[in-house]
Amino acid sequence: MAGEEILTQLEEIQQKGLQQLQGVQDEESLQSWRSEFLGRKAPVMTVFSKMGEASKELRPLIGQKANEVKAALEKALEVRTNIIKQSALERSLREEKLDVTLPGRRSAVGRLHPSTRNLRNIYSIFAEMGFQVYISPDVETDDYNFGLLNIPKHHPARDMWDTFWTTDDLVLRTHTSPGQIHSMRENAPDPIRFILPGMCYRYEQVTARHEIQFNQVEAIVVGRNITFADMKGTLNTFARRMFGENARTRLRPSYFPFTEPSAEMDVECFVCGGKGCQICKGAGWLEIMGCGMINPIVLQNGGYDPAVYSGFAAGLGPERIALLRYRIDDIRNFWANDVRFLEQF
Ligand code: FA5
Repeated sequence: MAGEEILTQLEEIQQKGLQQLQGVQDEESLQSWRSEFLGRKAPVMTVFSKMGEASKELRPLIGQKANEVKAALEKALEVRTNIIKQSALERSLREEKLDVTLPGRRSAVGRLHPSTRNLRNIYSIFAEMGFQVYISPDVETDDYNFGLLNIPKHHPARDMWDTFWTTDDLVLRTHTSPGQIHSMRENAPDPIRFILPGMCYRYEQVTARHEIQFNQVEAIVVGRNITFADMKGTLNTFARRMFGENARTRLRPSYFPFTEPSAEMDVECFVCGGKGCQICKGAGWLEIMGCGMINPIVLQNGGYDPAVYSGFAAGLGPERIALLRYRIDDIRNFWANDVRFLEQF
């Protein structure tokens, strides 16, 4: 091919390219235009292989022209790309309508488990009375769970707690009372005022009121001249803060090996006001905790001289209290992870 012919061809390529580009309206056609006019096999790229056919004088001219055509096509491509992008943006703004009057979407906010909320409520009531939280282990030796609490091996009182045994000597604690010994030993002979919250485990038949794992909160006070009246005042204050200023309570004699004397505290049924209903099973009263003056043997095991020191302890079941407070009919709801239940709190 003669040099002039190549130059003319280059001119035609440029015109054809620019003309076709005017008709390109979308991203996809833009890509095929690019490979046709600027791709590796595009005529403007292969012109150099034909250079041999041109005269020596025309070769530099052809090279220069080919570069100019390429630059012109590239520039036009850039302009076209911007136009297409801009019109796509305008179209989407036109078509995707935004209704700013629609109500916003609420983001899902998590919440505390009802049992945790109930526990925190109990903590703050005791905290206002000067109690600190003491955490003791879930796995205990036989001695801490029973022996040091004045429940020797083979004592019939062991039947009060159906126990999960891990080995011959280790148990999953059946109550939070072993924490009494831990907290006393760590602090004797200083006065103490603690609550000991935590999970307890019992090898029991699961029913609407009995779980095999449940929380307890133990309260313990040891010092000089601590009396039964101190216990009654503290627990009454707790009951009123928990169940309302007008909540009436009563103490009934009871038995626990680690307290002497021992009692159970009842609160007047807040559903029927003491008249007797389904919740209180006609009694008019609801049992909320066990309590008593710490047995001198237990005080001694904790490192306090019972001739000088005295104290009281109480143990309550927060889930049982929540059953009463929120009129929940089945304790199994607490650990069933059913959101329909959990969302009500
Ligand atoms: C005790 O465990 C004593 N340690 C309480 C105590 C502490 C008395 C300090 C004196 C001084 P009791 O077995 O009654 O006592 O349990 C206390 C509370 O735990 C019960 O009132 C109840 O609220 C809760 N509880 C007991 N067993 C279960 C269970 N299976 N499921 C749910 N809650 C339970």
